[in-house]
Amino acid sequence: MNGPCIYDDDFSKLRPKLIEADLVAFVSPMYYFGFSSQLKRVIDRFYAINGQIKGASKKAVFMMAYADTSKSEAEAMTAHYKTLIKYLGWKDAGMVIAPGVWTAGSIKNTKYGEDAYKLGKSI
Ligand SMILES: Cc1cc2nc3c(=O)[nH]c(=O)nc-3n(C[C@H](O)[C@H](O)[C@H](O)COP(=O)(O)O)c2cc1C
Repeated sequence: MNGPCIYDDDFSKLRPKLIEADLVAFVSPMYYFGFSSQLKRVIDRFYAINGQIKGASKKAVFMMAYADTSKSEAEAMTAHYKTLIKYLGWKDAGMVIAPGVWTAGSIKNTKYGEDAYKLGKSI
């Protein structure tokens, strides 16, 4: 921990940006009630820089989309996000949770794009 990551890949480019960032946006579709494996892979790479990013007075936002319309089905993902940023010592700056979004492009027919825009403007 806190040394260079043993994997030398695209995360090497993201790593300095993550350390410097004032705000980190976590964005994922729901895949089987959890984060996409693509996002989870990035989060798991935080491990090597825990000491540099924890408690670093960063803010975070969370945006997720899923096909179903049940609110309770989003709870596992929002709980994961909240627990993660609590551990990191980061402050939640807002969430956009988009149910009923199934097929590619269907988000365009919803208000969630506007919600995300407003969230960004509010920060
Ligand atoms: C592997 C996989 C798992 C999914 N699991 C869920 C699920 O548990 N609940 C749900 O409501 N939608 C689920 N969906 C639907 C996606 O959340 C939804 O279609 C989303 O808009 C896809 O975003 P993407 O186009 O970025 O992959 C799943 C889709 C895929 C491909």
